Amino acid sequence: MSGRIRNQQFAAKVVEADEAAELIRPGDNVGMSGFTGAGYPKEVPEALAKRVAKSHEQGDPMKVGLWTGASTAPELDGALAEVEGIDLRLPYQSDPVSRQKINEGRLDYTDIHLSHVAQRVWQGIYGDLDVAVVEVSGITEDGRLIPSSSVGNNKTWLEQADRVILEVNSWQSEGLEGMHDVYYGTALPPHRKPIPITHPSDRIGEPYLDCPPDKVIAVVETESPDRNASFTPPDATSEQIAGHVLDFFELEVRSGRLPRELLPLQSGVGNVANAVLAGLGEGPFDGLTAYTEVIQDGMLQLIDSGKLQMASATAFSLSPTAVERFNRNTADYRDKIMLRPQEISNHPEVVRRLGCLAMNGIVEADIFGNINSTHLMGSKIQNGIGGSGDFARNAYVSIFVTPSQAKGGDVSSIVPMVSHVDHTEHDVDVIVTEQGLADLRGLSPKKRAELVIERCAHPDYKPALRDYFQRAQQSAFGLHTPHLLDEALSWHHNFVQRGSMR
Ligand code: COA
Repeated sequence: MSGRIRNQQFAAKVVEADEAAELIRPGDNVGMSGFTGAGYPKEVPEALAKRVAKSHEQGDPMKVGLWTGASTAPELDGALAEVEGIDLRLPYQSDPVSRQKINEGRLDYTDIHLSHVAQRVWQGIYGDLDVAVVEVSGITEDGRLIPSSSVGNNKTWLEQADRVILEVNSWQSEGLEGMHDVYYGTALPPHRKPIPITHPSDRIGEPYLDCPPDKVIAVVETESPDRNASFTPPDATSEQIAGHVLDFFELEVRSGRLPRELLPLQSGVGNVANAVLAGLGEGPFDGLTAYTEVIQDGMLQLIDSGKLQMASATAFSLSPTAVERFNRNTADYRDKIMLRPQEISNHPEVVRRLGCLAMNGIVEADIFGNINSTHLMGSKIQNGIGGSGDFARNAYVSIFVTPSQAKGGDVSSIVPMVSHVDHTEHDVDVIVTEQGLADLRGLSPKKRAELVIERCAHPDYKPALRDYFQRAQQSAFGLHTPHLLDEALSWHHNFVQRGSMR
């Protein structure tokens, strides 16, 4: 028995990755661990991809349904997408190869709220789950599984799958043991009970995942780092956005709408969201907490600086430098970080009760406050909605951040009408660009449009937006949300046709 596998029943099942991958059958639905590049299986997916490639050569193409927590890494999404071994992929992804295959129409993808995945799988919406492939950081003497750097949907995969393959990754810090909170109290209606979290630090479950040993068909030992994508250091644009968000928080505190230590923070993926966290590190707020989905560099820095007391999430998403620091000092973070299943980290009931302050990056916003988080020019998927909807609708204040322009200025992030809707005007409280901040709460659509144009649009696009809105008010079918239907998406059309919205 190696040090990480302390139970004989599991140790007896150790095989090489190739052998484990052979146990996955063509057409199986496979639930893999992994969330934002953390805690995904490192070797079985690549071995499976090799097998798929061979099956293609032999003229008998093999595909599997691939379900995860969220995005994974090139060794998983990339490898399986490259060989076209995925039948239906869900939920969030951000891999360049799978993105390309999806946008070429060669890979089916369904993008759902991350908190919904577990209950949909329990309902059987996607069919049966045949195999779970789950990375853990160790197995205890009594056969309990120590989760690794993400929890995601692992509890659901282990419960629902007929067969289980475990990867035990000794690269993961041993200090992770005790940092997880796996809640076994969820159920389908009408048997649901309240989720008993009233503070981000409330521990309501157990530090281990359970799996009956007789379900486990293979155990693979690995020693392999998480993907660890680097964050771009905050640039001037991100710093300006962060500055506006901080000013907004200050104002909210002064007006008595937020306490001095704010409310539990949720910060989305992406460089801008990370920059906002960096800004909070320099801001005046102390005693912060987070009830969020991922712990990225900015969050770790806030903990290090003592500004953030504790963070509840479902996964890490750390750069190589930050992960090195975390792995060296895991014990220091033991009482400051808790990783939970994503159905709990993103649970609408808890998000609403705690009054989270949600901050998420977007692709574009329209003048009336609708948000597109996922699609470029209405039809190309970028990543997915992730947990942004779980938080946006239920947050105390829902903030969306974006640079005012993209593609070197050829695209305005503020448009007359979004080309795809992820968050409707009803779920959007505040929009922030480097130009300024628009607080849309309590405003009619027309007042919102004026504010978004004046505060958030880039000066290069402001005149055209003003002109659109003025003409819409003269000749729209109705004047509550005035639009020129033959022109509303012409900005996107121009970009597709001519390479610029200008
Ligand atoms: N039109 C066209 N392309 C756009 C665009 C727009 N309005 N806005 C951004 N893009 C492109 C960028 O040019 C960039 O393309 P490139 O990789 O070819 O350079 C790409 O989209 C990513 O943009 P970037 O500015 O680097 O974004 P980011 O790292 O801040 O991430 C999102 C922004 C929207 C992609 C990201 O926040 C996301 O996936 N959000 C949805 C999920 C979510 O909110 N999860 C959090 C829940 S906890």
